[in-house]
Amino acid sequence: MGRVLAVDPLHPQPAVVAEAVRVLRGGGLVAFPTETVYGLGANALDESAVRRVFAAKGRPLGHPLIAHVEAEKSARGLARAWPEMASRLTIAFWPGPLTLVVDRATHVPDAVSGGGDSIAVRAPAHPVALAVIAGLGGPIAAPSANRHQEISPTLAAHVIKQLGDVVDLVLDGGPCATGIESTVVDVRGATARILRPGAVTLPQLREVLGGVEARVEGAPDGVGRASPGMGARHYAPRAPLRIVDSFAAAHAIVEDVSAGGEPVGVIVQGDPHGFKWPKGAMVRALGREPGDYARLLYATLHELDEVGVAAIAVIRVPDDDAWSAIADRLRRAAR
Ligand code: TXA
Ligand code: MG
Repeated sequence: MGRVLAVDPLHPQPAVVAEAVRVLRGGGLVAFPTETVYGLGANALDESAVRRVFAAKGRPLGHPLIAHVEAEKSARGLARAWPEMASRLTIAFWPGPLTLVVDRATHVPDAVSGGGDSIAVRAPAHPVALAVIAGLGGPIAAPSANRHQEISPTLAAHVIKQLGDVVDLVLDGGPCATGIESTVVDVRGATARILRPGAVTLPQLREVLGGVEARVEGAPDGVGRASPGMGARHYAPRAPLRIVDSFAAAHAIVEDVSAGGEPVGVIVQGDPHGFKWPKGAMVRALGREPGDYARLLYATLHELDEVGVAAIAVIRVPDDDAWSAIADRLRRAAR
């Protein structure tokens, strides 16, 4: 079992940061909070440490990792070319939940990029993450700190549950404020292209760049996928998750599934009161605003998994840009 150290999320204690840096320098793995979700970090320039990240997660070696940096200057150091578009985006969104895919410099280990010739870079907007990167004096390769295809962690407890045995140190900085992963944008072509929808929305990107290509829905897995980590099944709770259009449809699922008395999770946006839910329904209202909903979504899925619900019914979220990252994660969780 790895060690857990509490850390002040706004003013990280220097001694805690120093300990994390010591573990990273020794080739170890440190889980740390970012504003989106917890990351499972290794020194990005230490190939064998990076390989340990894949082993710990059970992640296929071809799925590239994000290199977390302090600012654009260090990101440029990992890139063979730095498009002007990239600078416009970092000025607007860094530090923050935006990841840029650029051409990889040759000194960056292959393993970080899953053997490809690109690299994903992001400066996280979290004092703990930034302090550890600064202390290490170099990039930290970090995927979300969950086991492959399971739910991303927004609390240290989620990390400990899934990866407690394989991580050397967990920095517990409390809940993540954003709760959903960064938007991944490929800036190598003439037009920027979203590879994974996330906390920064398409209209926000268009405001800075003008043209941006949205991600193509329903692109098949495997051959030709631009973002190899985006397999169809992902972010999945243990219980089967179904997306439904009404309280009545959710009600029917609860009655169906919970016949044996088992609890069934129901996830709604707004007020679930005034509707008569059957016994066994565990109703969770995450909020009418996408920001509130995103902050609570993964923690709620973790909670329902812990309880051991037999199924989860989720009321469909709006089909618009502000909700697209949430809709994407729910679709994947439902497969
Ligand atoms: O918010 C986040 O992005 C969190 C925190 C910890 O920073 N990290 C995260 O990492 O979600 P991960 O590994 O779970 O997801 C990274 C995504 C995957 O979809 C992966 O395919 C894509 O970024 N990605 C990474 N490097 C890439 C590359 N070189 N080319 C294309 N896609 C890449
Ligand atoms: Mg992930």
